[in-house]
Amino acid sequence: TAPRWEARADLIVVGTGVAGLTAALRAHELRLRVLVVTKASGDDGNTRWAQGGVAVVLPDEHEPGDTVARHIEDTLVAGAGLCEDVAVTTIIADGPAAVTRLRALGAVFDASPDGTLERTREGGHSAFRVVHAGGDATGAEVERALLKATVDGRVPLLENHVAVDALRTPLGAVCGLLVLDGNGVPGVLGAPAVLLATGGLGQMYQATSNPSVATGDGLALALRAGAVAADVEFVQFHPTVLYTGRGARGRCPLVTEAVRGEGAVLVDATGARVMKGVHPLEDLAPRDVVAAAITRHMALEPGGVDDHVFLDATSLHDMASRFPTVHAACLAAGVDPAHDPIPVAPAAHFACGGVVSTVDGRTGVTGLYAAGEVARTGLHGANRLASNSLLEGLVCGERAAEAVAADLAVGLLAEPRVMTPVLLVAPVADRDLLQRVMSRYAAIGRDAEGLAVVGSVLDVSAVDRVLDTRELVEDAALTMAARALIAAAAERTESRGCHVRTDFPVRDEAWQHSQVVRLTPTGQPVLA
Ligand code: SIN
Repeated sequence: TAPRWEARADLIVVGTGVAGLTAALRAHELRLRVLVVTKASGDDGNTRWAQGGVAVVLPDEHEPGDTVARHIEDTLVAGAGLCEDVAVTTIIADGPAAVTRLRALGAVFDASPDGTLERTREGGHSAFRVVHAGGDATGAEVERALLKATVDGRVPLLENHVAVDALRTPLGAVCGLLVLDGNGVPGVLGAPAVLLATGGLGQMYQATSNPSVATGDGLALALRAGAVAADVEFVQFHPTVLYTGRGARGRCPLVTEAVRGEGAVLVDATGARVMKGVHPLEDLAPRDVVAAAITRHMALEPGGVDDHVFLDATSLHDMASRFPTVHAACLAAGVDPAHDPIPVAPAAHFACGGVVSTVDGRTGVTGLYAAGEVARTGLHGANRLASNSLLEGLVCGERAAEAVAADLAVGLLAEPRVMTPVLLVAPVADRDLLQRVMSRYAAIGRDAEGLAVVGSVLDVSAVDRVLDTRELVEDAALTMAARALIAAAAERTESRGCHVRTDFPVRDEAWQHSQVVRLTPTGQPVLA
């Protein structure tokens, strides 16, 4: 099919969350011609739903004794031995400057009357270092400020256009994108640099904190373009989304960990504490530990209620003002957190693995960059520390734009081309079925038998389709991402971080990073 429309830029940014917009603004500042493309509306990504905040050590007296070294240590502990030191130290050290720049752009964080930023604590943090906005609406404020700066700065933003595939030169360098517009009309964006900032893949599961756009598109596009993905089996489940009844689907309202950071505790139907005796930090243990403990408790303990537990926040006196988003979601569900324990359950939340990238966003493919949740820089290892993701998006988005400018300046990148691409054909499984088997067999608690079931179900249900609608692009991405995940999860015969194998419950130091290095001609991911 010949392209029906085309455009050119120096840099195409795919995605309008914290990483994408930060990169676009920096690229614009560096005088690159940048074009931002998103399959939905500008503010439709995951960023705006982030609650807790940005983890950062700021140089003031508010939390004396906290240091960058402690933040690094907490990140490494949460990451369960799979973090990359360079990524952790660089991103955390760059954090304070990134937050300062964001505030200069207009983002307003909660502050005490003397101007000092307020800080909260979340699971795995040894100090109160999470800065927040609007109480529990940090992501919404970050997104608002970045989007406003993008629009005010007249950075071109193409909404309702879905990226299908990378265009590549005969030598394999990326030189643009095949895109479908809102009517499904194919077009070509030519550019020597493409930055994937497409976020995560929570929609692979029935219950997720992620909005409907989180379908693993960037991971699939990068694998097809020849990039390597790592650690994709480590999908983090947030311990507490609001439980709204059996079979709740789509985006479930988050109940930020900061509620526990400020005193709420997890209990079962009898009022027994879920985290007592499980971990020295109890309710503020790292997220993987809490989510796994809830899952065990629901299944095994006499007070467990099958599919949820409760968060007792009745001791918090300022719930409505401190956590307005959570409070409103609870009231809408008929729960008054001042008097009632909040029913909660774990749900898919964050992809710790992804496209292997440096902290500057470079992947192994010339012209292809990645930043934010889609990227695997090594910051998160086997389990992300709470509120390190907005931080990563801010730091790596900025650095990726600078890397593109530097690579262009030294002539490293390909000439942008406007080619005549054929529409992509790829295996597509039924989304509903995929979500059901992934939730049943590849969530918290996996074993060889269950993972094999997922593989067979996907093989039987997936059929080759021409990707000529946004929905098919998303379903093909979910299919590829699920296959990559179950291949890596089946191979990793140990439990570590967010990857819990019931048939291999113990951590085994022999295991390091999993890597998806290529695809077979039929689209099956191949591990290193
Ligand atoms: C939360 O507020 O609990 C979520 C924060 C995060 O995922 O980093």
